[in-house]
Amino acid sequence: MSTLRDNKLQGKIAIITGGASGIGEATARLFANHGAAVVVIADIQDELGRQVAESIGTHRCTYVHCDVSDEDQVKTMVEQTVHKYGHLDIMFSNAGILSSPDQTVLDLDFSAFDRLFDVNVRGMALCVKHAARVMVERRVKGSIVCTASVAANHGMAIRTDYCMSKHAVLGLVRSASVQLGVHGIRVNCVSPTALATPLTCRAAGKGVEEVEKEYEKFARLKGIVLKAGHVADAVLYLACGEAEFVTGHDLVVDGGFFRQ
Ligand SMILES: NC(=O)c1ccc[n+]([C@@H]2O[C@H](COP(=O)([O-])OP(=O)(O)OC[C@H]3O[C@@H](n4cnc5c(N)ncnc54)[C@H](O)[C@@H]3O)[C@@H](O)[C@H]2O)c1
Repeated sequence: MSTLRDNKLQGKIAIITGGASGIGEATARLFANHGAAVVVIADIQDELGRQVAESIGTHRCTYVHCDVSDEDQVKTMVEQTVHKYGHLDIMFSNAGILSSPDQTVLDLDFSAFDRLFDVNVRGMALCVKHAARVMVERRVKGSIVCTASVAANHGMAIRTDYCMSKHAVLGLVRSASVQLGVHGIRVNCVSPTALATPLTCRAAGKGVEEVEKEYEKFARLKGIVLKAGHVADAVLYLACGEAEFVTGHDLVVDGGFFRQ
């Protein structure tokens, strides 16, 4: 994982949704280490989000309450960022939730399905839409990165709605990259395999080590465990100038995904 502080994001203004925890938190820390002028963490876990922002340093990281499934909240959060800091360079649209583990297509619960789609699909699309609008208005050749998943590229034995929602993220990224290229805006996604974060540990009712042990079987690459920091490294690459000719790309971070 990257420990270098080589300022790949010097002076950049970034928003990270779901930045209070897991992959978003690791990315907020990495962005700040790479010289981002401001990282705005947008989440619904207010206490945790504020703690993370304070631990990074309030001069370069700030917390804003924003439920990504609510268009007014997303619009306001993006516009306030631009009003306060002048423009927006990077949107990392990452907030997401999981569905019930034992759910197949035969027992889909559509109220849970709707809630999941509200966050994982509608929320992603709202963040891409409003980030792109302010980038176009201010003529910023920005970078938008979404969090998809290996579930965006494979069928799953369980969690049907989650798998569908991540396929939708891929469709969003591919379409938005086609449409926004003319403005110099890049749109990409990262697709991690399963890793231990508060999301997955909570769902499994297990601790980090136990969950990591369980997920070992999904990677062909052995002797290394996927951490949120590895995903953050991939996000940093897509967000920074090193990827300036990369758009519409799905960067898998899966150690050679292996489905038994
Ligand atoms: N952990 C994994 O195994 C894994 C694998 C592939 C993809 N992902 C994806 O990575 C992303 C981050 O997940 P994580 O594992 O870091 O989980 P996490 O629970 O640690 O972090 C997700 C964050 O999103 C926030 N969030 C949830 N609903 C929200 C809403 N409506 N508005 C704003 N914020 C909201 C949560 O409060 C939380 O802080 C998700 O999109 C998830 O689907 C995770």
